[in-house]
Amino acid sequence: LMSISDLTPAEFTRLVLNASSHKKAVKDAFAAGQTPPKPLHGAMTGKTVAMMFSKRSTRTRVSTEAAVQLMGGHPMFLGKDDIQLGVNESLHDTSVVISSMTSCMVARVGPHSDVANLAASSSVPVINALSSDFHPLQTIADFQTIHESLSSSTPSPSLNSLGLEGLKIAWVGDSNNVLFDLAIASVKMGVDIAVASPTGYGIPDHIRKTILAAAEGVAKPGKLTETTIPEEAIKDADILVTDTWVSMGQEEEAKKRLAAFKGYQITHELAKRGGAKPNWKFMHCLPRHPEEVDDAVFYDKERSLVFPEAENRLWAAVAALEAFVVNKGKIL
Ligand code: CP
Ligand code: NVA
Repeated sequence: LMSISDLTPAEFTRLVLNASSHKKAVKDAFAAGQTPPKPLHGAMTGKTVAMMFSKRSTRTRVSTEAAVQLMGGHPMFLGKDDIQLGVNESLHDTSVVISSMTSCMVARVGPHSDVANLAASSSVPVINALSSDFHPLQTIADFQTIHESLSSSTPSPSLNSLGLEGLKIAWVGDSNNVLFDLAIASVKMGVDIAVASPTGYGIPDHIRKTILAAAEGVAKPGKLTETTIPEEAIKDADILVTDTWVSMGQEEEAKKRLAAFKGYQITHELAKRGGAKPNWKFMHCLPRHPEEVDDAVFYDKERSLVFPEAENRLWAAVAALEAFVVNKGKIL
């Protein structure tokens, strides 16, 4: 799983719905003092997942370790000082060796080509845990959060649609890895996505092509629009989303970026000026910095979905590991 573009709309929908129904089933079981219910209980017994992280992580690390453990497997965290990940040994050699001893690699890397190269040489499934271009586990959790926030239906394995067609997401801020997979999923799910980024921080051409290609074969794809004016993107939006203006690896550009993004901070005033829908919600993948969203929005109990969104990273990890490791790529 390199990006949401690897998934058909039906597969993506299934992963999101599985994440949601596993969440309910496991929470119910834990509340009753029971072990996780089948099919999760013991599903990964005897399996080791190598977690190769060349960058810091709170949510992705904790959710992946907890998900593997929940299914009875062994998560093996390998930080950048622990193994030779592209340093002192080729990615090819590392991938061949680690995949010969484990059932899955979950990798957080710098350039997207690193995770693609690991996957090319691996004999086991590889899941992208964030690269320069994509963050598929975040997008599964994000759509789960939107679905749970808006849907009145109880999570159930028999549901087969997220029912989000016609919704509008406004992304205000940096055009980055988190946005790219969110936009691909939006197009596939019939959700419109409007992006407002300053000049010079928009979507690169090759990524725009990938986002637009997500519409292929979709009866009513979501529309991607791009602007440099936050208010334009926000008009009639149901959900306002942003992320840090300085992603990991861009620290040297921090000063320049903070200046370029002036005026892009999400506030209640901006949402009102832009004409967001009255019931608009706020999302952020975290970690959050105060520049891109003020406290009033971030901690707004009515509107902010950030903490359920973070919790859903666990259920997204469960659904992805179940599909790619337990069910060997069959998304059931
Ligand atoms: N959202 C997210 O991926 O957070 P971490 O960087 O803490 O894993
Ligand atoms: N865009 C951020 C996301 C962190 C989860 C980064 O790449 O650092």
